[in-house]
Amino acid sequence: MGRGPRGTRRSPGCGLPRLLRLVLLLSLARGVSGERDTDDLDVCATCHEHATCQQKEGKRICICNYGFWGNGRTRCVDKDECQFGATVICGDHTSCHNTPGGFYCICHAGYRATNNNRTFIPNDGTFCADIDECEDFGLCRHGGRCINTPGSFECYCMEGYVAKNGPEPFHPHMDATSCTEIDCGTPPEVPGAHIVGSYSSTPGGQAHYSCKEGFLSISGDRVSRCTALGVWEPPTLHCQEISCGSPPEVQNAILVGNPSSSQGGVAHYDCQEGFESPGGKIISVCTEKGSWSEITYACTEMVIEIHGVSVFNDTCVRWQISPERMNSEIMYLIHIERQQPDVVESVYEETFNVTTDSRIPEVCLHLQKGANYTMSISTAPPRRSVPAILGFRTADDLLEDDGIFNISVFNETCLKLNRHSGQVGSEQMYQVEVLGQRWYLDSFYHAVFFNFTTRDRAPEVCLDLYPATDYSINITLLRPTELRSAQITITTSVTAEQTITNISVYNDTCLRWTSLKTANVAEMYLFHIWGQRWYQKAFVQEMIFNTTSSSQDPEICLDLHPGTSYNVSLQALSSALPVVIYLTTQITEPPLPEVDFFTVRGRPLPRFRLRKAKEINGPISSYQVLVLPLSLQSTFSCDSEGMTSFFGNASPADGYVAAEIPARDVPDDTLEISIGDRLYYGQYYNAPLKTGNEYCILLRITSEWNKVRRYSCAVWAEVKEAWSCFLRLTLLPVIYTNE
Ligand SMILES: *[C@@H]1O[C@H](CO)[C@@H](O)[C@H](O)[C@H]1NC(C)=O
Ligand SMILES: *[C@@H]1O[C@H](CO)[C@@H](O)[C@H](O)[C@H]1NC(C)=O
Ligand SMILES: *[C@@H]1O[C@H](CO)[C@@H](O)[C@H](O)[C@H]1NC(C)=O
Ligand SMILES: *[C@@H]1O[C@H](CO)[C@@H](O)[C@H](O)[C@H]1NC(C)=O
Ligand SMILES: *[C@@H]1O[C@H](CO)[C@@H](O)[C@H](O)[C@H]1NC(C)=O
Ligand SMILES: *[C@@H]1O[C@H](CO)[C@@H](O)[C@H](O)[C@H]1NC(C)=O
Repeated sequence: MGRGPRGTRRSPGCGLPRLLRLVLLLSLARGVSGERDTDDLDVCATCHEHATCQQKEGKRICICNYGFWGNGRTRCVDKDECQFGATVICGDHTSCHNTPGGFYCICHAGYRATNNNRTFIPNDGTFCADIDECEDFGLCRHGGRCINTPGSFECYCMEGYVAKNGPEPFHPHMDATSCTEIDCGTPPEVPGAHIVGSYSSTPGGQAHYSCKEGFLSISGDRVSRCTALGVWEPPTLHCQEISCGSPPEVQNAILVGNPSSSQGGVAHYDCQEGFESPGGKIISVCTEKGSWSEITYACTEMVIEIHGVSVFNDTCVRWQISPERMNSEIMYLIHIERQQPDVVESVYEETFNVTTDSRIPEVCLHLQKGANYTMSISTAPPRRSVPAILGFRTADDLLEDDGIFNISVFNETCLKLNRHSGQVGSEQMYQVEVLGQRWYLDSFYHAVFFNFTTRDRAPEVCLDLYPATDYSINITLLRPTELRSAQITITTSVTAEQTITNISVYNDTCLRWTSLKTANVAEMYLFHIWGQRWYQKAFVQEMIFNTTSSSQDPEICLDLHPGTSYNVSLQALSSALPVVIYLTTQITEPPLPEVDFFTVRGRPLPRFRLRKAKEINGPISSYQVLVLPLSLQSTFSCDSEGMTSFFGNASPADGYVAAEIPARDVPDDTLEISIGDRLYYGQYYNAPLKTGNEYCILLRITSEWNKVRRYSCAVWAEVKEAWSCFLRLTLLPVIYTNE
C-alpha cells in the first residue's frame, strides 16, 4: 500500500491535474504493448512481475494485473484508486487507503461500516453509517443507561441504581464510575418491636414490624419502605412496654413481695391473719393487655373452733383449736363465773386474757374450793371463734393459793419467783425493792424500785445491777387480803469487762480516764505505782492507794519524783481487769552546788573543794567551773550555753569554762581543783587568771536526760581587790531538740 502514490510523487508529471495524468498514462500503456508484437515466444518471459501473459488474437501479450497499469513488460505501476477522493471512491465519512493493486475504506470515528468490518470495499454496497454506541447493550455496565450524540454517548444510572465512585453522567472507559443497585440495608430497629417475615432492601421493598412480647403497639405504621434514596422511611411504630401497674388489692389478703409489673409478672397473696383461702393460692398475672388477671379465689374469715376443753390438776384448764394450721399467737378471752349458793355474794365474775401460740393452750386458775364454775373460752376480736363453754365444780379439799413464794437466782442478775401453790390465773402485782451497797465504798448506793404485774405462775425478772456490789432484794406480792414477801441477797461478781478507757497523761504527773460502767455511781479505783531510775539502781518508789470518784471522767495528779520511769496500774474495784500505763517524769534542776564561799584578794588562789551533788531530781551529767569577769556577774544566767573555753590569747570578755568534770569522774567524797593549773579538763583549758582583773568563780551542775537539760549554779569565790560579787542566778530549763 502506498507504493503507487509514493512513485507518483517522484514522477516528473506530478504537477499535472490528476485526471489528465491518468488519461495520459493510459494512452502510453497502449503504445508500449504494441511494440512487442513481433516476438511472441519470448513475450511471456518478459512480463513484469505485476503482469500476466495472456493470449490475445493469437498473440501472447503481457498485460498488467488488475490495479496496475503499464506496458506489461517493463512497467506495471500501481493505480491509485483513492486519488479522486475518499468521498468519491468510498462514500461519506470515510477515509480511502490505497494498496498495491487495490484499496480499502475505513469509516471515520463515530461511524461504522455496514458490513460490520473495520475495512471495506464499497463495491458490495457497504457504506459508513452513523454508529449508535448505545446499541451495544451493556456498554454502560450493569444498571447503566446509554444516551447517544452524534458520534459519542453518556451513561446514566437506571432507576433503582445509583452512581458509585463518581458523578453522573459518566463514560465507562474513562471514568471509574459505575451503577450499583440501590440497597437500603437492614431496616432500622424499633424499640420494643421486631421485623416480621422477610423483606427486600431494594427501593420499594417493605419491612413489616410487630411489637415484641411484653410490648403493646400504641401508634404508628407497622410498615417501613425502602426509598429511591437508598434509605428506609423512618419507622413510626411506637411499642410501649406492657406495665400492669400495682397489683390489685385483694380484700383480707396481703401482697407477698414486690412482683414485676411487666407482662408475665405474678402477684402472690397471703390471706390476712384470721382469714383463709379455701379454694387455693391467690395469684394475679400481668397479661399482654397490660392489666392484671382476675383473681379467682378470695380470703374468707377463718373461724377458730375451740374444743376438747378439760380440767386437770384441780384448777388448770386445757383446750384444743381447729384448724390446727394456725401458726401465730392467739389471744384468748377467758370468762369465769363462780356460783356459791351458801355465800352471800353468791356470783363472782372475772374476765382475763391469755396469749399463746400453743396448739394445746393451758392455763391454771385461782379458784376456790367447793364452788361451781362456768367458764367460757373465746378468741379476742377481730378473730372469730366458736367459743367453748365448760361447767365444773372444784373439790371441797382443794388447796387454796396462800400467795407464799420464794425467789431463786439465775444468770447472776435474774430472779425467778416460785409460787408454792400453782393456782394462778388472775393477774398478780409484785413490788420489787432493790438496794445495792459496796463494802469497800461507803458513798456507794444503788436503789431500784418498780412494780410489775403478771399472770405467770413462775415469773422471771432480770435486773440491771452493778458489778462487785452486794444487793438485797425484797419482793412483795400485793394481795388484797395480806402481803406476802420474800427476800434474797445477791453479790454480783466483778465484771470481766474493762471499765476504764481513754486513759491519758497530762502535765507530766496527772492522769485522766473515762469510766464506762459506773456512770452516776461512785467507783473506787485502786492504784499501784512503781517507780525506777536507770541512773540510780537503789531508787525504788512504790505506792499503793485507792481513790473514790463518782465522775465519769475522773482525774488525779500523782505525787511523783522527777526524772523517774513509772509503771502505773489502775483498777476499778468493780472490774477484774487493771489498766497498766507507763509514764516518765521530766527532770528538774539539780540541787544547788554545795560550796564554801570565800573571797580571795590577790594571788595565788586556794584549791577548791568540789562536793558531789545528790541525784534527786534527775541524773547529773557534769560539773563545770566557770570564770566570769566580776563586772558581768549581775547579767550572768546559769543556763547560758554561750560559755566557751579559754585559749590564752583571746581576751575572755564574757567569761569562760575553765574546767568540765563528768559526773562519773567525781569521787563520792570530794575533788580538789586549782583554778589556773594550765591543764585541760574535757575540752576546756584551765587558764591562769590574769593579774589585775577581778573575777567571779562559779560552780555549775548540769543534769541532762530525755532531751531536757537543767542547770544549777552557785558562786564559789570572788577574786578581787574590793568587796563586790553579786550573782543573779536564773534557773530556767533549756529544752533542746535533736536538730
Ligand atoms: C468482511 O466481513 C465478512 C463477513 O462479516 C467476511 O466474510 C469478510 O472476509 C470480511 N472482509 C474483510 C476484508 O475483512
Ligand atoms: C443466761 O444468759 C445467757 C446470756 O445472756 C443466755 O444465753 C441464757 O439463756 C440465760 N439463761 C437463762 C436461764 O435465762
Ligand atoms: C422454792 O420453791 C420451789 C417451788 O415451790 C421449790 O421447788 C424450791 O425448792 C424452793 N426453793 C427454796 C430455796 O425454798
Ligand atoms: C407499787 O405499787 C404500790 C401499791 O399500788 C404503790 O404504793 C407503789 O408506789 C408502787 N411503786 C412503784 C415504784 O410504782
Ligand atoms: C419487804 O417489803 C415489804 C413491803 O414493803 C415490807 O413490809 C417488808 O418489811 C420488807 N422486808 C424487808 C426484809 O425489808
Ligand atoms: C497543768 O498545770 C498547770 C499549772 O500547774 C495548769 O495551769 C494547767 O491548766 C494544767 N494543765 C492541764 C491540762 O490541766
